Amino acid sequence: MPQTIIVSNRLPTKVQRTDDSLSFQPSEGGLATGLGSIYRQEGNMWVGWPGLFVQDEAEEQYVTEQLSADSMAPVFLTEAEIRDFYEGFSNSTLWPTFHYFTQFATYEQTHWDAYVAVNEKFCAAVLAHAGPEDTIWVHDYQLLLLPEMLRRARPEATIGFFLHIPFPSYELIRVLPWRSELLRGMLGADLIGFHTFGYMRHFLSAVSQVLGLPAQNGQIEVEQRAVRVDAFPMGIDYDRYAAAADSDAARQHEAAYREVLRDTRVILSIDRLDYTKGIAQRLRAFELLLARYPEWREQVSLIMLVVPSRDQVAQYASLKEEIDELVGRINAQFRTITWTPIHYFYRSLPLEELASLYRLAEVALVTPMRDGMNLVAKEFIASKADQRGVLILSERAGAARELSDALIINPTDTNQLTEAMHDALVMPEEEQRQRMTAMQALVRRYNVFSWTRLFLNQLTYTKMKQQTLATE
Ligand code: G6P
Repeated sequence: MPQTIIVSNRLPTKVQRTDDSLSFQPSEGGLATGLGSIYRQEGNMWVGWPGLFVQDEAEEQYVTEQLSADSMAPVFLTEAEIRDFYEGFSNSTLWPTFHYFTQFATYEQTHWDAYVAVNEKFCAAVLAHAGPEDTIWVHDYQLLLLPEMLRRARPEATIGFFLHIPFPSYELIRVLPWRSELLRGMLGADLIGFHTFGYMRHFLSAVSQVLGLPAQNGQIEVEQRAVRVDAFPMGIDYDRYAAAADSDAARQHEAAYREVLRDTRVILSIDRLDYTKGIAQRLRAFELLLARYPEWREQVSLIMLVVPSRDQVAQYASLKEEIDELVGRINAQFRTITWTPIHYFYRSLPLEELASLYRLAEVALVTPMRDGMNLVAKEFIASKADQRGVLILSERAGAARELSDALIINPTDTNQLTEAMHDALVMPEEEQRQRMTAMQALVRRYNVFSWTRLFLNQLTYTKMKQQTLATE
């Protein structure tokens, strides 16, 4: 019976070195939850990088054994590959370009060479497990070349590809020296999925303009193979977030924070450290709120959680400094003995504590400059059992296509963002409930499980149709 193999740069388990032992932490990420019930089924597996540099063969063998007991096959990266493939081409070329930050993008031949080599390494790892007719589902921008590499080795395989970040306009794609190779790499798949129709349209336009391959009804013909392209907005495990927010642990944390905050109202901001997230712009808008509406001083605090990420990449390190400086300045200017304007945490928090912050917050600020989807917006919604709370959402997050009942803003417009915070704080409860109820219905229904099902069903259907056409 054909098997399903999931491939992503990161495995759903993070292996970490603490002193001289290794710890295995399951990832809380959306993808891990959504695909958890699939890759653990008999014969299926997940291929990816365990997130650490192994010191010797004995350690490599130990990690491999531990992970394979839970249906995972690790791909180990050398220090040079972590530098040139992960920090280099993936996160200093593709990430900034696909998020419209070309000013941060670098174009290094050595990074490209490492990107090709690591995609080949992933290909070899998949082939070691995949039979000729298996289903292989490849994820995200670190592995754009992999579908085509797999196709060459396994012409009959069913291959899906999903991009978790935005696919930008052709004008951005054309800047990349390796644009043709990257697009051809993706086209090795039978089905290519994006979060929104906008990203999908950009992809079709890039394929037509760069490769001269026209699309018809969401289908591109590549070497007599029909490649299907479609939008699949990703969701979350709604019940898991709703249950976490309703748990005793979350209530206890909330009560403890409430004691310190007293009746101060809370605006919440949660992100990975990233220049795409608009964190500095958000801080400036909060500063303007306190300056423009003095009545909110001592009444409202911003709780801001920034989760450390990619700190070896220069732009991330300098963003961290900018945030530290801004928070310091705003707090110094406005704070009183009994009130702190911004409570800033630079770390990751366990689910129950996150859930307690979602409970505590009346307003969530999800205001990225660009974001493929943004699941924090959906987690906040799932956590609001009493249907109170206001989501302020950037029009440039994929989630804005679905969550039209949020207060939708342009994140570069500081004025608009400040006014949205004010509007959210004075919004009548009835209006909050109406908006939240509508968004909850949508987020509950289009969850991560229906997303997985939809993609895999469409992939099977696409393959079946191809085979029928081939035999006609
Ligand atoms: C985004 C990307 C993922 C990535 C995650 C964390 O969500 O789409 O592919 O895994 O960020 O980034 P990291 O570099 O730590 O894997």
